[in-house]
Amino acid sequence: MKAFKKIVCQETSPFAIRAERASDVPAREALLDASFGTNRYARTCQRLRDGHAPAQGLAFSAFHQGRLVGTVRLWHISAGGVSALVLGPLAVDPSCRKLGVGAALMHHAVVAAKARGHAAIILLGDASYYARFGFSALKTSELSLPGPFERERLLGLELREGALNGAWGMIAATGAKARKSRSHAAAAAKLAASVA
Ligand SMILES: CC(C)(COP(=O)(O)OP(=O)(O)OC[C@H]1O[C@@H](n2cnc3c(N)ncnc32)[C@H](O)[C@@H]1OP(=O)(O)O)[C@@H](O)C(=O)NCCC(=O)NCCS
Repeated sequence: MKAFKKIVCQETSPFAIRAERASDVPAREALLDASFGTNRYARTCQRLRDGHAPAQGLAFSAFHQGRLVGTVRLWHISAGGVSALVLGPLAVDPSCRKLGVGAALMHHAVVAAKARGHAAIILLGDASYYARFGFSALKTSELSLPGPFERERLLGLELREGALNGAWGMIAATGAKARKSRSHAAAAAKLAASVA
């Protein structure tokens, strides 16, 4: 597991959200390892991200006192034929949780996706958290993911009314291919090791 520097968030000190930069990647990956474990590459939603780049302009980092404390990205998918985005992973540094960083990242991501003309966002997560941002399982019951998943955790949000009406079938990645990087190669090696 990559080194993960423990930081202490101060409630009184502000945090900022900006577009992710290449220099954020090591800290982002360390945060994701700390939040989801190093076997995160075996998760079903990862199949929608493998080898793909995030949607243009839809990868964000949260910073507190100069350190990355949160991350969220969105990716192009076809949701049973409907052009949409999948959101994830969303993670906030354990020492900065419950301060609204996650909510701020979610609001930022949803507003940016809507501004760019996207029709809908899908994610796999706890409805008890994501319902506050408008996500529900109302229109995802006929959709599937390429791997095991808990049906009640497959949630959707329409950015354009009716965008998910009748959405049916397999969710598949449709985004641009990512440029091969060392972190991508490491991820692929980890996945291979985890399924060996
Ligand atoms: C989920 C996560 C991103 C929330 O970040 P955050 O900055 O703490 O979020 P916010 O400050 O906006 O909201 C915190 C509130 O959400 C609640 N919450 C956090 N995770 C939750 C969950 N899985 N289900 C229900 N509520 C949840 C907290 O209890 C808190 O409630 P409160 O306001 O009543 O105290 C963060 O807990 C995290 O990184 N978790 C590990 C990775 C993860 O599970 N990612 C989401 C995948 S589904």
